[in-house]
Amino acid sequence: QKANIGVVGMAVMGKNLALNIESRGYTVGIYNRTSAKTEEVMKDHSDKKLVPSYSVEDFVKSLETPRRILIMVKAGKATDAVIDELLPLLDKGDVLIDGGNTNFHDTIARNARLDKSGINFIGMGVSGGELGALHGPSLMPGGQKSAYDLVAPILEKISAKAEDGKPCVAYIGPNGAGHYVKMVHNGIEYGDEQLIDESYDILRRVAGIDVDELSNIFKEWNKGELNSYLIDITGDILSRKDDLGSGKPIVDLILDEGANKGTGKWSSEDALALGVPQSVITESVYARFISMLKDERVAASKVLPKPGLSVDFDAKELVEKVREALYFGKVMSYAQGFEQLRFASEEYDWDLKFGELAQIWREGCIIRAQFLQNITDAFEKDPKLTNLLLDPYFTDIAKKYQDSAREVVAIATKAGIPVPTLSAAVSYYDSYRTEVLPANLLQAQRDYFGAHTYKRVDREGTFHYPWYKEQ
Ligand code: 6PG
Repeated sequence: QKANIGVVGMAVMGKNLALNIESRGYTVGIYNRTSAKTEEVMKDHSDKKLVPSYSVEDFVKSLETPRRILIMVKAGKATDAVIDELLPLLDKGDVLIDGGNTNFHDTIARNARLDKSGINFIGMGVSGGELGALHGPSLMPGGQKSAYDLVAPILEKISAKAEDGKPCVAYIGPNGAGHYVKMVHNGIEYGDEQLIDESYDILRRVAGIDVDELSNIFKEWNKGELNSYLIDITGDILSRKDDLGSGKPIVDLILDEGANKGTGKWSSEDALALGVPQSVITESVYARFISMLKDERVAASKVLPKPGLSVDFDAKELVEKVREALYFGKVMSYAQGFEQLRFASEEYDWDLKFGELAQIWREGCIIRAQFLQNITDAFEKDPKLTNLLLDPYFTDIAKKYQDSAREVVAIATKAGIPVPTLSAAVSYYDSYRTEVLPANLLQAQRDYFGAHTYKRVDREGTFHYPWYKEQ
């Protein structure tokens, strides 16, 4: 019997996706460049409907047609190597799916190249980590719609299901749309993480709350409107002690250098390319970069003085204010993320369905959260909504929580605790709601030194001021 679908790459994500697909009643062909990995999978799962192959030729032959092949290898050169090996063996109408964290520019190029040979290429964002891959990830596939239809039944079965039973997968759009949406998902993930980390830092270093108590605070927060996977795991992380026996909280033994694999940075890079304000995510990328300068920071901490201001607050009240500030920051971050998606949809001609994106992020993925339903509702009410903040639910959050966000940023600033994303959130809110920004003066400066011209508020046209003429 031929396999219904093949998976290339038996590292943990590929293996777990293959097992997930198999568990839904499919026969899965598996292949890995080094045979040992495939043998290992077969040894551990001999009872499963897996068809192992030890050459690309056999692998391709093992699949029913039109072939559906999921590529789960490290994004980049390895993806091209797999495609180049497969290509001569494929037939028109076959579907390749790249499930790696691939840069959307690469996906657009691969989709165009393969399309010329009649091979369909889907770039699919997969979120949820190892366990998500095994039990139900959130999936963001983009590429030819007809190719999506060929794989949709499988993807719907293996994906996470939201509370209302809907699968956390949908056709995102042509060529690179799926990987783009995954990239912004990751940018939002960075923003959420940094907002949480700043909240923790303020409560710990300004309010002096200990780690055990902080764990309880996050667990409590998770019961309310902040309910989400990242708040949940933060509560758990803060309750964990050193696995090597010192008895200390594990967070206190983890080096404060934030690594990254690039997807959040790509999100910021494209926001810059599109000219869309996306400061919360970008500040979270910078926060990781500055954290990496550990040696410099240690040296600077001995030279650069602390602020000399006193801070006045009630610790109990501060906890609630930080919670409100965190939610406010999250709303600004998502408002920016969705604004970026709107710009991208226009620029790349993708016709993204914003409400549906929030819908498929409700379960399975790293940013899964209760409040994504509010985003879906907002776009369902008004599919042309320009900015989430203009939806009544989000306007109300801004109204209720802005003062806490301001106070928290002020307290942190006075105390010398960095809050790059929380303060970016407040600045974004204030910029967005300001009718007249000082860009009038900016335009004058540009016109002064470079004759760059400006528009006027009181008449049509383009103007240049006679700056060098005596008045
Ligand atoms: C997911 C994640 C995942 C990502 C990691 C690491 O949705 O499951 O986004 O795809 O690779 O979170 O990202 P960084 O190493 O850049 O933090």
